[in-house]
Amino acid sequence: MSETSPKLRAELEGIPTYKPGKPAAAGGPVAYKLSSNENPYPPLPGVLESVTGAAASFNRYPDMACTGLMNELSDRFGVPLTHLATGTGSVGVAQQLIQSTAGPGDEVIYAWRSFEAYPIITQISGATSVQVPLTSGEVHDLDAMAAAITDRTRLIFVCNPNNPTGTAVRRAELERFLDRVPSDVLVVLDEAYREFVRDVEVPDGVEFYRERPNVCVLRTFSKAYGLAGLRVGFAIAHEPVAAALRKTAVPFGVSQLAQEAAVASLRAEDELLGRVGSLVCERNRVVESLRGQGWTVPDTQANFVWLRLGERTVDFAAACEGAGVVVRPFPGEGVRVTIGEDEANDIFLKVTEKFHKEL
Ligand SMILES: Cc1ncc(COP(=O)(O)O)c(C=O)c1O
Repeated sequence: MSETSPKLRAELEGIPTYKPGKPAAAGGPVAYKLSSNENPYPPLPGVLESVTGAAASFNRYPDMACTGLMNELSDRFGVPLTHLATGTGSVGVAQQLIQSTAGPGDEVIYAWRSFEAYPIITQISGATSVQVPLTSGEVHDLDAMAAAITDRTRLIFVCNPNNPTGTAVRRAELERFLDRVPSDVLVVLDEAYREFVRDVEVPDGVEFYRERPNVCVLRTFSKAYGLAGLRVGFAIAHEPVAAALRKTAVPFGVSQLAQEAAVASLRAEDELLGRVGSLVCERNRVVESLRGQGWTVPDTQANFVWLRLGERTVDFAAACEGAGVVVRPFPGEGVRVTIGEDEANDIFLKVTEKFHKEL
């Protein structure tokens, strides 16, 4: 037996591991999971039926081309089939986007703090992350991001609304930024939370994709559509990029269950978007209550709120857990708290009230 272990790529050393939101404790006191930006509503009966129907033939491989889903998306967004690509969640598509554009020596720009998968998938590709701090208002600093572009830049993520702060950039500033990006650099507008946006000045990225061949829009069925456990997301991008995404896809990555559920969800969109509307009302209630208690809360356009707690982050997360809600701490920075069931939001607000009084 040889004593050396298989050689792994040096780029993998020191890679940050993705921390999934902590689950609610099983068997403990009432516990709600507000740590993963999931949709608290259970699947719609019709969507569940489509999945159980598809389950009867899971001895077969799925339709690799996701034909039914692609057709639905093409109609819905008014884009050609050749401008669409699906993947195992939008994080899967994001990874394909990096694999398609960047490797060792190249740079990927994104705001920080933002979606925690960006540094991981960038490092896996061997490219270098260029992290541009958010402004003091917790928003993307698009001027600084434009200034960070070099001749090595291959891809820029704009997470809109931003995870974990919930803040969104508006049309005029995004347009100004896009004007400054060279046309051979891909800009990925990651719109995982698009359906929760209510600020009319926050643009639908598809508008920009239509005018600019270097803009790609990422969307997911995990949040507003409630299919997080099934893993399906997609990109809308011009042909060379969309074609590259199809080349870099894991063959048969999107299961037939996920494909059927996504199609059924698009067809049940009115009902699902009604649920999103209720979550947005709850979000507004939570934000107003927090501000009423004296907290500074950035304006969120997503299904979560951000509290910058600095050194008190871990204690606050523990207090939440003790009260029955699990939140997502970023130690030393703050906590991200998903808008969940009304009772869960109430428990969270009780903790924040007590915590603020003790500050
Ligand atoms: C900004 C952002 N993009 C992408 C994703 C990935 O979602 P999924 O892979 O479930 O589509 C998330 C999930 O939390 C996210 O917050």
